[in-house]
Amino acid sequence: MQRLIHKEIKNIFVFPSKNKAVKESAKFIANLISKNPQASISYATGNTQIPVYLELARMVLKSKLDFSKTKAFHLDEYYPCKPSAQHSFVGYLRKCVFNPLRISQSNVFELNGKAVDPKKEAKRYEGLLKKHPVTLTILGIGPGGHIGFNEPGSSFKSNTRLIKLSKETLDRDRNDRGQKSPDHALTQGIATILKSKVIILNAFDQEHGKYLKHALTGRISNSCPASALRLVGSKVVLFLSSDAAKEIRS
Ligand code: GLP
Repeated sequence: MQRLIHKEIKNIFVFPSKNKAVKESAKFIANLISKNPQASISYATGNTQIPVYLELARMVLKSKLDFSKTKAFHLDEYYPCKPSAQHSFVGYLRKCVFNPLRISQSNVFELNGKAVDPKKEAKRYEGLLKKHPVTLTILGIGPGGHIGFNEPGSSFKSNTRLIKLSKETLDRDRNDRGQKSPDHALTQGIATILKSKVIILNAFDQEHGKYLKHALTGRISNSCPASALRLVGSKVVLFLSSDAAKEIRS
């Protein structure tokens, strides 16, 4: 394991392979839960996180880890969107996180992508997050350096809200990934995310390394939402593969 030296974020860990980075990220989450079995956790979706969640599920299967008392939140959901839609993040989370990690149903807090009034739904979710302060947020990074679905231009003071997705995100979703997903989403805000006690971000390949490069080496500005993490750098931990780190160093 190597460290990448950065002014604001001291814990940037670089692993020789994606596999190693995945294992260490899962180990970090597992350690946190062993110390705090009632932790409130906010989960990212995305392909990046799938192997991490699989690793956690393996630990649960072997009875090495118990998520049953943890609380589960998530970052975002397309809007409008029902859980059965192929692109639904709630659907993804039920399949990859809530069920395999055996989190009690009563401790799962889902964003309702079918809510009639998205403003009201965002407010409801923000209220729940306030009631159960988040111990750990697990992040990935997307087009334009988005975290959750906070697209470039999102205020660092933003709370959970409805947002219009950027052209770059829509291109990724519809053209690169062939999704029939909507052009809006409900997302935790940047201020909401920054309140989490600990924040980890996983990036395991070149594409995600490129997004991170802007966030870590450019200006801290809302033109790159992930750059906000540098404002709370002491509680941020990055798990990178060497492929992702190469992009940041280039
Ligand atoms: C998605 C989500 C993000 C996620 C990112 C990367 O759109 N809104 O929370 O981190 O994009 O996803 P992936 O790992 O599939 O590239």
